Amino acid sequence: MSRTLVILKPDAIQRNMAGRIISRIEDKGLKISAMKMVYLDKRTAERLYEVHKGKPFYQSLVDYITSGPIIAMVVEGRDVINVIRKLMGKTNGAEAEPGTIRGDFSTGIEKNLIHASDSDESLRRELPIFFSEEDIIKYNKADESWL
Ligand code: CMP
Repeated sequence: MSRTLVILKPDAIQRNMAGRIISRIEDKGLKISAMKMVYLDKRTAERLYEVHKGKPFYQSLVDYITSGPIIAMVVEGRDVINVIRKLMGKTNGAEAEPGTIRGDFSTGIEKNLIHASDSDESLRRELPIFFSEEDIIKYNKADESWL
């Protein structure tokens, strides 16, 4: 079992899609082990997206991610970083395959509903921005032996 950080971005909340996106994560057989709704302040948003500093879309990205509440989650499962990225689809919703979250629900390249860590290195940097180890709930799910 491995972990990843998932963020439902402000458009997911404003467009009433949080439940549908969380259902896709559950339907895949992944386990949610922490979840909270927060407003990101500017400084935290800049920390989250520091790898994009200097890119033309950086300021707009920070404005967008701080524009409304988000839901941050820790998700666990086998090879979960890759699995979630496949569930999400390509960054640009207009190019993402139908059947993926972005492919089904988004046409935006910026407002693309969901973020997830793209590597172990990103996870090590991003997860502590939202959760401490004590925040991550350790529990067994009844379906675990079937997955
Ligand atoms: P995310 O997976 O959160 O990683 C960085 C985010 O930057 C990305 O999703 C998009 O929201 C945004 N992004 C990436 N590329 C572009 C772009 N070319 N123009 C605008 N926003 C972008």
